[in-house]
Amino acid sequence: MFAELISNTADMIRSRMTGDATGHDWWHVDRVRRTARRIAIEEGADPDLSELAALLHDVADWKFHDGDDTAGPRAARDWLQSLQAPAEVIDHVCTIIAEVSFKGAGVKTEMSSLTGRCVQDADRLDAIGAIGVARAFAFGGAFGRAMYDPEHPPELHADFAAYKSKGGPTINHFYEKLLLLKDRMQTPTGKRLAEERHRFLEKFLDQFYREWNADL
Ligand code: ADP
Ligand code: NI
Repeated sequence: MFAELISNTADMIRSRMTGDATGHDWWHVDRVRRTARRIAIEEGADPDLSELAALLHDVADWKFHDGDDTAGPRAARDWLQSLQAPAEVIDHVCTIIAEVSFKGAGVKTEMSSLTGRCVQDADRLDAIGAIGVARAFAFGGAFGRAMYDPEHPPELHADFAAYKSKGGPTINHFYEKLLLLKDRMQTPTGKRLAEERHRFLEKFLDQFYREWNADL
């Protein structure tokens, strides 16, 4: 049952997300589904359910739907119903998608299931490390953001509305989200995998400022 759900869903997502230039392309989803599966195996969660939820986690992201964070679960539900997936699988996947997204420095985003924790960790791992740096600047470029502006300090957003409406240079996003992720990993495997990627972010920023300030 899962093999077919997964392969049909992968085909649909691949054709829908190929060519995106904001960091939310098919290859992001493909990395997240592989990492989610791997974390699920290490954590004793359900690898198939993790992979299916990972495939659908960005199907209709609020960042591209006027800030509407119900669009993703709705699109996933319609899709899985069209494949006649069992109701409990649909409900679990939709809950994961509703809970997975980062909503600001001051907003708790806890997952209600172990499978969900594996998917969220996998998604967040793809926002840090070398890939995370590349995705942040791809996103910034696609949305016309400045790379860095020393006169525009980062803000720690207290609620989702403030986080959603943020503009600001891409470097600020490192302080507003990326550097916070390591301590918000939900599984021991996720925490372990985040360490090296977090160090890479710090190293990147250190060198970025030294080059910016001609301090090399
Ligand atoms: P989430 O599900 O937590 O919203 P995603 O995995 O969908 O996260 O995608 C977030 C990606 O988009 C990350 O790589 C992140 O760096 C990038 N991104 C989101 N907002 C910004 C921003 N304002 N500036 C730069 N990159 C951003
Ligand atoms: Ni994602």
